[in-house]
Amino acid sequence: MAVAPNPRVRTLEAYEITPQEPWQIYDEYGLTKLDWNEGAFVPDFVKRTARKLLSKDEYYSWYPDCVAIELTKTLATWLDVSVMNVLTFPGSDVALESLCRVYLSGGERVLIPVPTYENFFTFAASSGGDLLFAPLKPPFEFSAASLIAEYRSYQPKVIYLVSPNNPCGYLIPRDDVREICRAFPDSLIILDQAYVDFSPEASCVSLVQEYDNLAITRTFSKAFSLAGMRLGFIVAGHDILKQVAKIRNGKNLGMLAQKLGVELLGRKADVQAWIDQVVTTREWLSGQLAALGVNYSRSHANFILFELPDPKYALAEFKRHGVYVRDKSKAVPNGLRVTITTRPSAEQFLRVLERLVSR
Ligand SMILES: Cc1ncc(COP(=O)(O)O)c(C=O)c1O
Repeated sequence: MAVAPNPRVRTLEAYEITPQEPWQIYDEYGLTKLDWNEGAFVPDFVKRTARKLLSKDEYYSWYPDCVAIELTKTLATWLDVSVMNVLTFPGSDVALESLCRVYLSGGERVLIPVPTYENFFTFAASSGGDLLFAPLKPPFEFSAASLIAEYRSYQPKVIYLVSPNNPCGYLIPRDDVREICRAFPDSLIILDQAYVDFSPEASCVSLVQEYDNLAITRTFSKAFSLAGMRLGFIVAGHDILKQVAKIRNGKNLGMLAQKLGVELLGRKADVQAWIDQVVTTREWLSGQLAALGVNYSRSHANFILFELPDPKYALAEFKRHGVYVRDKSKAVPNGLRVTITTRPSAEQFLRVLERLVSR
């Protein structure tokens, strides 16, 4: 008989990973990758730094700086918080997973407004959480007051919020986050702000000084275009980070990622110019969708959720033209999601969309 995995994993439904076909074919054909919300800003100064570092033997043979001291200090300065409020990880997924492992045990409730970032479900369920979904209906407007009124009595151990939300694009205003932290003082509020660099007015990092039940996760995969390097972090009160640090394995955060993170944080103007370009393109494309009569959700991030009557056919047509977008139809009826990168990529997407709409 095969060896049995632990019961949490045995009963867990595997997270359905979207096929990453671009990795198999991109050398042969040019393609436009708009399916995983990655940034596409890889400036020469980043490549120059990477080449320089990779010419040194120690970048291969030494273990990385497990404390990530330079990166942590640079992040703390950039965010205007203490170094005691920042903990780095190889991607914000690992940060989210670590928070679940530290704060959940068998049968504790995890409250999740949906649609949202579904990878988190696996982290929470495999750590023993019982997932309790709070469904939002189109046009997907988040209301802290309704969440509190409806779910306060459920006493969730963890609440998972995503702002700007993936895939719906809405923001949760800072005052709403405050209200939730106050209404659920015994819950850990995990606020995933992977996309907040595109809407910095919604950043909640300053709230970690006020609320000891708030943990914010952020990433370098979106606005900083380092998804392949794996770099993310938690901003939270030191008591939370002290617990998470017990299970964090600092060896997993490579030196190249650490150094490139520092380099990008030192080039604020360049990163900001890229963010501005994405936001301008997003607003332009939103206008085009409206003009075509395509239903879409207003977005505060680097993607747009939209609807087409036959999403499977549409996906195949986009792909036939070398454009990869994301199927979101399980979470949102007829839903598809397009990542915003450059204007030419958005125009290529739009040309296929126009054909689909006029057929
Ligand atoms: C809301 C959200 N959180 C976290 C992540 C994962 O980011 P990372 O690359 O830092 O693991 C994603 C990636 O798409 C995301 O959409």
